[in-house]
Order: sequence, then C-alpha cells, then structure tokens
Amino acid sequence: GMPHYVKIVEVGPRDGLQNEKGSVPTNIKVELIQKLVDAGLPVVEATSFVSPKWVPQLADAKDVMSAVKSYKEAKFPVLTPNLKGFEDAVAAGAKEVAVFAAASESFSKSNINCTIDDSLKRYRQVCEAAKKLNIPVRGYVSCVVGCPVQGSVPPHQVARVAKELYEMGCYEISLGDTIGVGTPGTVVPMLEAVMAEVPVDRLAVHFHDTYGQALVNILAALQMGISVIDSSVAGLGGCPYAKGASGNVATEDVVYLLNGLGIQSNVDLNRMMAAGDFISRYLGRQTGSKTALAMSRT
Ligand code: HMG
Ligand code: MG
Repeated sequence: GMPHYVKIVEVGPRDGLQNEKGSVPTNIKVELIQKLVDAGLPVVEATSFVSPKWVPQLADAKDVMSAVKSYKEAKFPVLTPNLKGFEDAVAAGAKEVAVFAAASESFSKSNINCTIDDSLKRYRQVCEAAKKLNIPVRGYVSCVVGCPVQGSVPPHQVARVAKELYEMGCYEISLGDTIGVGTPGTVVPMLEAVMAEVPVDRLAVHFHDTYGQALVNILAALQMGISVIDSSVAGLGGCPYAKGASGNVATEDVVYLLNGLGIQSNVDLNRMMAAGDFISRYLGRQTGSKTALAMSRT
C-alpha cells in the first residue's frame, strides 16, 4: 500500500542550478539552501564535486559546502563522480555523498566519459573509501526508461545497475527518468524489475517533467510502496538551449500531492513557496510549479 510518510530529497540547488545558463552566485545558493531547510526538507542535495570544465555552474562546490556544513537540521549530500570528487567533498565537510551511474551506455559516455562498468568500478572505490569514514553513499541510476541518444532502455538494464550499486553499499538507489519521457506504462515495469533486485524501502524515484508525466509517475511509484521522492524547488532546471532537458518535478507540487493523499512529509508548503519565490525572482522567471502559481493567484 501507500506509505504514511514520504522523504522528499530536494535536488534544486544541484540538479536545478547545474542546468542554468549562467552561474548563480554562491551567496544566493546558500540563502536558497537555508530557505529549503526552513521549509522542513530533511535532505537538500547541495552541489557536486565534479569537473568545473564539465559543470562550471557548480565550480563553487567547496564554498557552498563550507557555508552549509554546520547546519544540523538537514542532510546535504553532494555528487561525486570518482575518488577525487569524494576526497574533495570530504575535505570540504560533506557528510554524505552520491554516485551516479546510468542504465544507458551512451549517456554514461556523454555524462561521465566512461562505460557503465568503468563507472561502477570507480563507485566501488568511492563506497570503500566512504565506508571507512562512515559516510553514507546514495546511488543514482540515470536514463531508467529512456536515453537521449539510445531511445528506450530495457528494465533489466536498470535492474542490473541498481543491484550493483546496492550491493556495493549504496543505502538508497534513486531511479532517474533523466529526460522525463516515462509514463506509468514504462515506469511500472521498470520499477517491478528493480524491486525484484533491491528492497523497495531502499528505492527513490527521480522524475523530470519534460512530458508532464512526473506526478502521475510518482503516484504509480507511491502505489508500489516507494517512499522517497526527489524533486526540485520551483521545478528548477531545464536549460532552454538543451533539447529534452527539463526541470525536475516541482517540490511544491509534490507536497501538494502528498498533502492531498494524507501522506506526511513534514514540509511546509508556504515556506516551500517562499523558497521558490526567492529563486524564481533571482532568475527572473516564472516558477515551474503549478501549485505555486495557483496559490500566488489567490
Ligand atoms: P574526464 O575528463 O574523463 O576526467 O571527466 P579525467 O579523469 O580525465 O580528468 C580530467 C580533468 O578533470 C583533470 O583536470 C582532473 O583533475 C579533473 P585537468 O588535469 O584537465 O586540469 N577532475 C576533476 N575535477 C574536479 N572534481 C572531480 C574531478 N575528476 C577529475 N571530481 C568526470 C570525468 C567524471 C570528472 C567528468 O565527466 C565530470 O565531472 N562529469 C560530471 C557530469 C555531471 O555532473 N553531470 C550532471 C550530474 S548527473 C545528473 O544530472 C543525473 C541525475 O540528476 C539523475 C537523473 O536525472 O537521471 C543524477
Ligand atoms: Mg536529474
């Protein structure tokens, strides 16, 4: 049945801001993170320790981390693609990290410049180093239903990568529909295949809303017992110049859905909207949250 409590993993400062055309100043990022914590979010993915040549938008990872590392109210995982990223993250004060693999070879190549198997080798090293320091590692699988290059991705390929991440020690596996092409027609069979390999209480879903399917996919996941949802304040993300890259489902919309279902999240919708309003004003555009739009009209 449906969960009574859902943990929302806010990914806006990372997944959202990594896709902005320009870099957002560090102090704005830090203020945004503070507002997200104030809204009651238990987890705010803060930044990535990746190559600044690949993702210049997050080149200030060290500074963001040093500003938020002492906050006690939430967890601040950061993306680490390899041991170097892991070591830099730990040195900057990160207490939790995330590794990110793909279910599609072409996306692995274009995103992290290596094969799926080579990435899993790197992530095994990261997990071993993290274990020694008692640092929890989250694992992502990207392109769980579709890939921008290869098209549809078969469920068994997703299950294989998810299982490997779980077995190497990732405490939670987030299944990402990176380009937002899934519907329950493809998402449900994918989740069934993954749930045959990884316990459902270790799974999270990560939907981008490119085709407007994120909330219905989330409902399907909830009905299958998944209780961790990734989302992004104001639906941040989505570069107007990158075809197929849309924002994550908006956190405000997820909270509205959960409230309607009577599922606890401990996130305050009004404070969440204040965070969304803050960053949307800074970026100079309308929020990507339908809920925030509707509520600001009344
Ligand atoms: P590479 O060029 O193959 O790496 O990149 P390399 O080992 O050959 O190193 C090249 C240079 O990068 C060297 O510097 C390294 O020191 C440096 P140089 O000698 O040229 O000055 N380098 C690093 N610098 C900082 N931090 C590091 C690091 N590692 C090497 N950790 C690499 C390989 C993985 C580094 C690169 O491809 C990369 O950084 N990729 C990150 C891409 C990324 O962040 N993508 C977005 C996140 S994934 C996502 O959004 C999907 C998700 O949301 C889920 C979903 O939606 O499905 C998670
Ligand atoms: Mg994403």
